[in-house]
Amino acid sequence: MGKDVIIACDFASAEQVFTFLDKFTDRKPFVKIGMELFYAEGPNIVKEIKKRGHKIFLDLKLHDIPNTVKKSMAVLSGLDVDLCNLHAGGTVKMMEAALEGLTRSDGTRPLLIAVTQLTSTDQESMEKDLLINEPIDKVVMHYAANAKKAGLDGVVCSPLEAGKVHDVCGRDFLTVTPGVRFADGEIGDQKRVMTPAEAKKIGSDYIVVGRPITAAEDPVAAYNRCITEFVD
Ligand code: C5P
Repeated sequence: MGKDVIIACDFASAEQVFTFLDKFTDRKPFVKIGMELFYAEGPNIVKEIKKRGHKIFLDLKLHDIPNTVKKSMAVLSGLDVDLCNLHAGGTVKMMEAALEGLTRSDGTRPLLIAVTQLTSTDQESMEKDLLINEPIDKVVMHYAANAKKAGLDGVVCSPLEAGKVHDVCGRDFLTVTPGVRFADGEIGDQKRVMTPAEAKKIGSDYIVVGRPITAAEDPVAAYNRCITEFVD
């Protein structure tokens, strides 16, 4: 898969997401469905959006014992999502089990990426709450290397980390990066941001963009601007 823009569809209901997606009559965007929408609407929302011709990143961040994750991934694979994820903190064994569960009988499977440390976790909370005393950058790269070792396809990371992840795990290891804002746009609650053009330069494979598109006056124009800056 080449570079693409994934729209974070952080809506609370199917109705809202369909009203939003109806605006896109030309190119069908790659869509991220998160926990809020999935828990509100259930697996049907995935099937419905898929039926409309969109690729889907199902962002449920699984983290449990290997056997449970394996069986749950088999269910998600049956929903025909294109990309899904888990927490690398669940260990290499859990990630290997997830891949097994995800792989269909014909050998095909959705792409699988790992969350390393959440960007909401900082050095202090990692040390205090998790008793991890290494520098956070080192922890993130170690978790990325574990994901690669387990056979995963990439990681979710800040665009600022994408270059380093590629240095450590190779150019083919995917970096999927949120925290994207237009140069002239609102930053909101994101702290470390990059423009789509900068994310392209630094080597992100996919950017995940939410509010700069979903809250824009003209979402289709904002999406097209992302495509122009990041993909074309
Ligand atoms: O609206 P915004 O562009 O900030 O949305 C970014 C999306 O990426 C949200 O769905 C958010 O939950 C997700 N995300 C993030 N930072 C991470 C991981 C996921 O912003 N580290």
